[in-house]
Amino acid sequence: MTIIVNEKTKEFHLQTSGSSYLFTVLENGQLGHLYYGKKVNHKDSFQHLLTNGNRPNTAYVKEGDMSFSLEQTKQEYPAYGTTDFREPALHIEQVDGSRISDFRYKSHRVTSGKPKLDGLPATYAEDGDEVETLEITLYDDYLDAELTLLYSVFEAHDAIARSARLSNHGKANLNVSRIMSANVDLFDSDYEMIQLSGAWARERHVKNRRLESGLQSISSTRGTSSGHQNPFLALKRPMATEFTGDVYGFSLVYSGNFLAQVEVDYLDVARVSIGIHPFDFNWMLEPGDSFQSPEAVMVYSGEGLNGMSQRFHELYQTRLARGGWRDQARPILTNNWEGTYFDFDEEKILDMARQSKELGVELFVLDDGWFGKRNDDTTSLGDWYVNYDKLPDGITGLADKITDLGMDFGLWFEPEMVSKASRLYEEHPDWILHVPDRSLSHGRNQYVLDFSRGEVVDALYEMMSNILREADISYVKWDMNRYMTEIGSPAWPADRQKEIVHRYILGVYDLYERLTSEFPEVLFESCASGGCRFDPGMLYYAPQAWTSDDTDAVERLKIQYGTSFVYPVSSMGAHVSAVPNHQVGRVTSLETRANTAYFGAFGYELDVTSMAEEEKAEMKAQIEFYKQHRDLFQFGTFYRLESPFEKDGNRTTWMMVSKDQSRAVLADYHVLDRPNQGFTRLQFKGLDPDAAYEIEGYEGLYNGDELMEIGLQLGHERFRERDIHEPAGDFHSRLFILNKKP
Ligand code: DGJ
Repeated sequence: MTIIVNEKTKEFHLQTSGSSYLFTVLENGQLGHLYYGKKVNHKDSFQHLLTNGNRPNTAYVKEGDMSFSLEQTKQEYPAYGTTDFREPALHIEQVDGSRISDFRYKSHRVTSGKPKLDGLPATYAEDGDEVETLEITLYDDYLDAELTLLYSVFEAHDAIARSARLSNHGKANLNVSRIMSANVDLFDSDYEMIQLSGAWARERHVKNRRLESGLQSISSTRGTSSGHQNPFLALKRPMATEFTGDVYGFSLVYSGNFLAQVEVDYLDVARVSIGIHPFDFNWMLEPGDSFQSPEAVMVYSGEGLNGMSQRFHELYQTRLARGGWRDQARPILTNNWEGTYFDFDEEKILDMARQSKELGVELFVLDDGWFGKRNDDTTSLGDWYVNYDKLPDGITGLADKITDLGMDFGLWFEPEMVSKASRLYEEHPDWILHVPDRSLSHGRNQYVLDFSRGEVVDALYEMMSNILREADISYVKWDMNRYMTEIGSPAWPADRQKEIVHRYILGVYDLYERLTSEFPEVLFESCASGGCRFDPGMLYYAPQAWTSDDTDAVERLKIQYGTSFVYPVSSMGAHVSAVPNHQVGRVTSLETRANTAYFGAFGYELDVTSMAEEEKAEMKAQIEFYKQHRDLFQFGTFYRLESPFEKDGNRTTWMMVSKDQSRAVLADYHVLDRPNQGFTRLQFKGLDPDAAYEIEGYEGLYNGDELMEIGLQLGHERFRERDIHEPAGDFHSRLFILNKKP
């Protein structure tokens, strides 16, 4: 039993294997939060944790009574307007101008399994018993509205998935201007807040700050989750490390505008909330309608940041990602983008495919430029018809030729966009997000299609599904290359304009749902100018995402390290590209480029036909190596060891251990080589302490406990390989492959 209810005190104790989450019904009928953290034994009552009292300068709920104030109460899902002055989870503007709400406990039920969230991505239960769901119903009699809070407890994953649903049973419209997915009032504020921040080509860099009194937040108002901030934050105790100490992770399963914030009040309570960004949001809830918030996933780890990430990885890999590809080895691909950009024809593509096949590549992906008149980024988005000048036998013909080579074929789309120079725009100039009579901004010469309109989503579905039905396509790269501006849709009335961004995302989810259901055998990879929409919402439909347009091996260390805070390695598209690198001009060895890309859904993104013979031989060996260890790289347990964001950032190490601990691979990357360095050792993690391991290229056996506690001294390894005075050069890296001795 993971949900224990004390029917008398109306206390709810949600237990995962390592955490407890406790809340109760307060004396005014609202919900109060009691505790979230390391698992505690159940007892009948934790009511003593509610410590209200007479304090100066406080507002109290009941006339003549100085014993109960919401500002002194840790709340479960705070509403605006009475005695709490912090930012609420819910804010409803009413026709009479009031913004006060007062939702009181009405009923609850516990069920096994997990209900689906209508039209939204969410974690799911595969076998009914692995998840229990608590549904709490609260009611505001004055509004005649019902608030349902859903808590699904993933016991084995130490995770709780939460959301809120508001239903209007009254006679008047309700304007919902804020409805957060989760709120947690933590006892104190002695935490550091970790966020994944960046921009195009440097997504998800790890940033850390000490919580301070007041508000601290990250958010996106760009129309997508964005590469600037990821819909995630973690709170860690200052003493917590990668492997020890308390860490809480909050992740939002959503791809649109979001807000994740912590408000520290005068009592040092840290209020964490995460959900759709209330800025520029309003949902007009008509009588009889309901609004379902996206899902937030909360993870508690007593084993530091790695513990948090491993819980997210396991949950998102197995209970968020769906479909046949979820558990299948992901194909090694060649993508032509950095190899040709727009400049290709069928002969060139077939040449690249043939030579890739010879090296062992399994999937060839044709990127941007195959449709309409698209020879640069100024035209043709929206015209998903093949360009016969480039591909005389069409996509179907090309797909046949590539599959005849014994490879799979994949295709790029950017369904959410349109170029003004396109048939689609000529026919439907009103199908873009815009505000009539206002000038229109563009990004990369393109405009955002109005996915809040059903007919637009239908049209894209028609075009894409026709191609997927006709041609032998096993992979789709779904790109999205600009943020939203002039957000407006003439298809909706004035009082619904603030719904457009959310409706847009629902449209994107709808198209994904239709395509993934009709073509379950197709592997979808999401992409947004690289990793600018790398979020859990996307992972529900597409089990992998293009991590970043920055393919430089050194830049990728930071990007992949940061991404791994939440997202599994199998979800990170990672390609070896040409040097000098196209984003930063750096020259790294083919070995280091592959050593970085192995920790992801591996592939090449270069013109293989222009590679030297010895490079091709090396690539062939890399592909063989990856195939041999693919299940380990894609489905092992990932450990971050040394951070590129700490010390001077010169060194990164991380490793993968197979689930049965029989195999492991550790990667050690150095940015700049340095003379006469101090001793360094590699301390492995996750091995079987009682087993003996062979390390490829090393003599003898090493015990698991020895490798984890004492480690492998690197000076010793370097002596063996070459003279200690011989420089290794900049950007060098090395893999250590471990096999358990039978
Ligand atoms: C941005 C993507 O991130 C790239 O990989 C590539 O697909 C281009 N768009 C194509 O326009």
